[in-house]
Amino acid sequence: MRPPLASNADERAPAPLKGKKRHMFGRRQDYEEDRRDTRPVPAIGPAPTQADSVPPPPPPRPTASSDVRKADAYYDLKREVFSALVDIIDVSQLSRMPADQARAEIRDVLAEVVAAKKVAISTAEQHVLLEDVCDDVLGYGPLEPLLARDDIADIMVNGSNKIYIEVGGKIQETDIRFRDNAHLLSVCQRIVSQVGRRVDESSPVCDARLPDGSRVNVIAPPLAIDGATLTIRKFKKDKLTLDQLTRFGAISPEGAEILKIIGRVRCNVVISGGTGSGKTTLLNCLTNYIDADERIITCEDAAELQLQQPHVVRLETRPANLEGEGQVTMRELVRNCLRMRPERIIVGEVRGPEAFDLLQAMNTGHDGSMGTLHANSPREAISRMESMITMGGFSLPSKTIREMIASSVDVIVQARRLRDGSRRITHITELLGMEGDVPITQDLFVYEVVGEEPDGTIIGHHRSTGIGRPRFWERARYYGEEKRLAAALDAAERPPRAFGSA
Ligand SMILES: Nc1ncnc2c1ncn2[C@@H]1O[C@H](COP(=O)(O)OP(=O)(O)O)[C@@H](O)[C@H]1O
Ligand SMILES: [Mg+2]
Repeated sequence: MRPPLASNADERAPAPLKGKKRHMFGRRQDYEEDRRDTRPVPAIGPAPTQADSVPPPPPPRPTASSDVRKADAYYDLKREVFSALVDIIDVSQLSRMPADQARAEIRDVLAEVVAAKKVAISTAEQHVLLEDVCDDVLGYGPLEPLLARDDIADIMVNGSNKIYIEVGGKIQETDIRFRDNAHLLSVCQRIVSQVGRRVDESSPVCDARLPDGSRVNVIAPPLAIDGATLTIRKFKKDKLTLDQLTRFGAISPEGAEILKIIGRVRCNVVISGGTGSGKTTLLNCLTNYIDADERIITCEDAAELQLQQPHVVRLETRPANLEGEGQVTMRELVRNCLRMRPERIIVGEVRGPEAFDLLQAMNTGHDGSMGTLHANSPREAISRMESMITMGGFSLPSKTIREMIASSVDVIVQARRLRDGSRRITHITELLGMEGDVPITQDLFVYEVVGEEPDGTIIGHHRSTGIGRPRFWERARYYGEEKRLAAALDAAERPPRAFGSA
């Protein structure tokens, strides 16, 4: 959970409305009275007699509210209220308050904006506006039922009336709809406001996070042509374990045993795979086997890993704010890690020049460091690392970079989502060193597809490649795990017991 953007914000907050003494919870420290836009807003409805007095308690929602909502001026005003709200209040705190209190805070800001802008608006209209802003700020509308389901991995909203979900590795369309694109955009607004951002034409792209940890990307018009597009990677509170992966057939029991040993004996591991192939899940599994006395530092774009060890420092990158400032990149985090006396460094996702720093960490005594990256095979993972470093502006000969990779990374674990939606660990591959200019790899364990059921289910099995002594054998011995490793490798050589003994 990100820390609140402002904590002791009350001191510098603007003077509240005349006669109001209540503290404004979560006010931003940097909010200044003069930042408020005081341009007049077109009037909607008849002007109340005392425009800047404190409104009386709101009457019930008027039945004609839908007419009120249709006016353009209404939406303009709503947008202004929303902007002011994001400026004045740390909206992420609002969602953590009791609903009544949050609503009262929003009502205060609304009253301030209406007063400051000298908007002519009736109490009834003000109430409708309050409800509307509250819905946007405190609820996710049509997405709520999808967010409540635990079996959904991703939610993909392509404009107001096309919503897809991923269940069991397969994408399916839902019958859920937003009222219109404006409604969808307001829900997007609500989501990104929690990280202190806005989406609009001037800043149409934003990454955010739901309070439950789910990762969200929003891209709005004009960049998204058919309406705001929202992608949510749902956060799974109960991460899958290696035993569960074994039960699902993602890996065989022997393969799982080998992975457990790799995690324990401090091999440097790169987990490679496509989007949604289960890389993060697998990384989380591997960290389960790290000894409890090791100091571990994790670097992530959005904290997803759930390490069970007591001695863990969790770091998170930070995107630039609205003014384009304050960004902290993954590279900066990883470099900083090195000054924190880590024993292992775990990088959630390696996408850029931080590859260099992770490899250096692996190479300089932080054995057992791990990271995931996007590639479709172990060999491709090696070239991905090379190109991430080359593109990062390091002017190193490519042979030097490859040597660095080959001497740092011990094992590449490949994850893959097959076309039937199932997720499998398809390779456990070792890096052996260089032969001339080329890094040499050796598969220990592979998944072989042998056929397909009439219903499209893929038939295959995991098998060992017959390597009796992997390169990390000595390491396993040092940690007293060589018997276990030998047993797992032996067992894996037996013909597969499951289906598909073709
Ligand atoms: N072997 C598996 N079997 C079934 N579901 C899986 C498996 N591995 C991962 N998942 C699920 O797939 C989704 C994506 O996994 P994740 O590890 O976040 O992918 P990645 O990091 O590669 O994008 C998650 O909801 C996760 O629980
Ligand atoms: Mg991931």
